[in-house]
Amino acid sequence: MIKKITANRILSKNQAAKLKTKFLNESHYTQLITEDCDAYDNYGNLLFRFRKNAIPIDVLKNGVNAFRGSIEVTESRGAASGSSHKRIRKDGSVSNITVGNKVESGSVGFMDSGAMVKYCRKTAFARNYFDKFKQGIPFVQFIDQKYKELCPEHYAKQKAIADGTNRNYIIGDTSFTTVTVNKNFRTACHQDAGDFSDGFGNLIVYREGSYDGGFFVMPEYGIAVDLHTTDLLFADVHKWHGNTEIINPSDDWLRISFVMYYRENMIKCSSPSGELQKAKIDKTGYLTL
Ligand SMILES: [Fe+2]
Repeated sequence: MIKKITANRILSKNQAAKLKTKFLNESHYTQLITEDCDAYDNYGNLLFRFRKNAIPIDVLKNGVNAFRGSIEVTESRGAASGSSHKRIRKDGSVSNITVGNKVESGSVGFMDSGAMVKYCRKTAFARNYFDKFKQGIPFVQFIDQKYKELCPEHYAKQKAIADGTNRNYIIGDTSFTTVTVNKNFRTACHQDAGDFSDGFGNLIVYREGSYDGGFFVMPEYGIAVDLHTTDLLFADVHKWHGNTEIINPSDDWLRISFVMYYRENMIKCSSPSGELQKAKIDKTGYLTL
């Protein structure tokens, strides 16, 4: 039996926006979800679907082993890292590149044109460790199938745009272009950006050792979810969310989380040869795309 709850809004949008880059704690939720649950707001909009033991352990472990090599220290995670600021150059001047705090995170799959690289391409991980990337595809396909089952309306829209995207930028025949992999990374309050706006987000956690806390919190609705290994959460990640502190960690504690999504601008990617052409043009500096 799946518990169905309606969560009242406890913070206005303006109040919630003030939490951006702040770390969330037990003052930001009154309800902790630990079992299967569907949560809605007062208007009947889905906030999340949480399913315990939804992922076979061998599928998950295969995904962890395949994708964990993508994790590196990065300052590209913006508000989720607890800070979002302009990079200061060595000479003290302020650049227009926005960076965050240093965290351990990786990207698997494909990326679109951004501030730094102006063409669509494989992530460094998919390029340099293509066998590992391929090894993890059944994990992505499994989550895609669950997405279809549990959020069919959001899935249909996302799959339609994925199907209309150049095949070279889609993971396996799924609705996803990209997987974010985070290690022991407590996200500060943020809204996801850059993913397909009509889609629904997901979160998968793999744990080793032991710890408490690290809950996924939606502060506007005062609700938190305790995710364990093999659990699956589909959540409206366009609402504010973040993690509580990890407490009582064992010496060997490990928390690897996965978020699979479709990068919104990838519908604009042309074929790899077309994108290579853009890369060459970009390097000459004659044309800014
Ligand atoms: Fe997020």
